[in-house]
This record gives sequence, C-alpha cells and structure tokens, in this order.
Amino acid sequence: FRVDWDLVTAEKAGFDHFMMKEIYDQPKAYRDTIGSRISEAGDSVILDEISMTADQIRNIRNIQIVACGTAYHAGLVGKSVIEKLARIPVETDVASEYRYRSPIITPETLVIVVSQSGETADTLAALREAKRNGARVLAITNVVGSSVSREADDVIVTWAGPEIAVASTKAYTTQLMAFYLLGLFLAQTLETVEPAEIRHTLAAMQSLPEQVESILARGEEIQAYAEQIAPKEHLFFIGRGIDYAVALEGSLKLKEISYIHSEAYPAGELKHGTLALIEDDVPVIALGLQSDLQEKTVSNVKEVTARGGKVLGIAYEGDAEFAKSVDQTFSIPRTLDVLSPALTVIPLQLLSYYASLARGNDVDKPRNLAKSVTVE
Ligand code: G6P
Repeated sequence: FRVDWDLVTAEKAGFDHFMMKEIYDQPKAYRDTIGSRISEAGDSVILDEISMTADQIRNIRNIQIVACGTAYHAGLVGKSVIEKLARIPVETDVASEYRYRSPIITPETLVIVVSQSGETADTLAALREAKRNGARVLAITNVVGSSVSREADDVIVTWAGPEIAVASTKAYTTQLMAFYLLGLFLAQTLETVEPAEIRHTLAAMQSLPEQVESILARGEEIQAYAEQIAPKEHLFFIGRGIDYAVALEGSLKLKEISYIHSEAYPAGELKHGTLALIEDDVPVIALGLQSDLQEKTVSNVKEVTARGGKVLGIAYEGDAEFAKSVDQTFSIPRTLDVLSPALTVIPLQLLSYYASLARGNDVDKPRNLAKSVTVE
C-alpha cells in the first residue's frame, strides 16, 4: 500500500493533483504533438500516418466530427479550423446522438472520431456505424492500440502522455494541435491556403508552448478570481465563433469539478432568453479573441454590465478597447485568432481547478464522473 502511495506522489511530480500536473504538462505536450509533423523548412505539414492519397482527399465531399465530452468540444474548434482552411463542409455530433439521427454518410464522407481514451462506447459505436455505411474514418486519439485506433482507417496520435485526472486538459489541447495540423494538411493538398499563410500559421503554432508557459506563470491572477467566484451558484461564459467553442469547454470544466452551475452561450444569443438570468453580481466570463467579431461581443458585454453582471474579459494583451468594456481582464499573448483556443482555454482550466480547490472538492475525482465511459 505504502509503495502505491509513493508511486502516486511520484507521478504527480510535486503537484498536489494530477490535474495541475497535466495543466503544466501542456507546453511539452504541444511540442510533442506538433513535433516532427512540421517540415524542417517550416513550410508544410507532414502527416505520414494518413494513408489517404491526394485524389482521395480531393474527393472528400463532407466531414463529420463525432466525439463525447471534452473531445467533442475539441471537435467544435476542429470544425471551424477545417472549414476555414480547407473549405470542406463539416458537421459535428455528440457520439450518443450520431447513430440515432440517420446521418447522411456516403463513401465521400470522412468521419473524424476524437477520443482521448479510444474506448468510449458511444464514440466506438459511431465509428462502426460510419464504417458500415462506407465512410473513411480518421481517429484522433491519445492511446496507441486503443479500440478506436485499431478500427479506424487512419490515426493521428496526440502525444499528451497519460492523462489521469477525470477533467481533461492536455488531451483537449493536443486534440486542438491535431486539428490544426490536419486542417493545414488538407489545405496544402487542396491548395485552399497560400503557402505563405501556411508558413505563417505553422510558425505561430510553434510559439504556442512558450506562450502557454507565460500564462501559467500568471496562475495567481486566476486563483484570485476563482476565490471570488467560488461561493457563487451560477456563472456564464459568452463568446462568438471559436470563442464560443472554447466557452463551452470552460463551462464544462467548471461544472465538472467545482460543481458551480455554468452555461456557455453564443454572445449574440444571450438576449433571446438567458439574459433574464443576469442580475446584480452574476459573474460572466466574456471571450473576445476574434478580431472580426469583437465589436459585436463588446455590445453583448454591455447588455450584461447594464444589468449588474460582473464581467471578466479574456482578451489579447494590449487590447485596451475590450478591457474598457469589462470589469476585469485576463490577458493572453497575441496569436492568430484561429489558434487562440490553445491559449484561451488555459486560464479557464486554471479557473476550474482553483474554484474546485476553494470549494474543498476532490479535484481529480469529481463526484458521479468517470475518466472513461465504456457503457452507452
Ligand atoms: C468522460 C470524461 C471526459 C471525456 C469524455 C470522452 O466523460 O470524463 O473528460 O471528455 O469521457 O472521453 P474520450 O476518452 O472519448 O475522449
């Protein structure tokens, strides 16, 4: 028994919880997942693990991304990334819904299943349904040799390393890396993006690990905010475009381990109902990283502050305009808007961690939840 305990302590590498260790693992996990998949010249993506020919890629008519939980949220970012870069229409489904809605699957459909464990029952069933209907299946998974990886036609492995905490952190962000690489890989094959832009995006990706480190170094700012919101019963996240996809992940993380009720809303949709819940001192986290949408998000922030809601804005450093509209700001280093989820989610992970801690919860093993769900 003693030996086991020492082993667990050793595996936490000096952190109090696996979740915190895994949050801090992310710069390395980004580097390992990007790793040798960018050419030495920095001008193209190398995905030797994908056996699709250029002709097969040109024949893809539509993509369906299917996953559960946090992996599904990575898929939502993946949809935006692929549509923006490769101009292929993408649908997203939670795996437990996919099979039962008679999805339109043809041999020209590429189905992408995303699963950290590669063992989630619903995701595996969706994969089998897709194959039965003649689709090609690409898996993004963290476990080499998992059921999903064995049954898919192609596999992109996320090199996050073992993830122990129930709340997924580094698996999610390395899934994002996989989607960036895949989106650029499809784009370079289909020539939908100029070579200069591919080079520029790859260079920006290579700066992400260091930028994550700089955010982690400012963890106390988030801890202070977490202690402020820990006694609250409700919290809202708002954002537009891929900021909304990140908002959904931030909200799930907070619910999972702090048990604070939270909802993520597309910022412009708030006024169609949910705004009724905003009153004095209700905390709202507004993500404002998409430059073309920020002005619109600012007007939604004003709808909240006018009703007494207290807004924490997440914006790029030096963004005075956005900072002016909110009560407090947490800034993240500048990157391309499309890559911003890889940075924005870090303070949200820290927030849920510190809120959970402040409420005295079991951070690594939240009530009612399991790391891997192998039943339907
Ligand atoms: C469980 C975990 C989540 C995870 C989901 C999908 O609910 O608690 O963190 O996102 O399963 O797991 P997978 O292994 O398929 O990514």
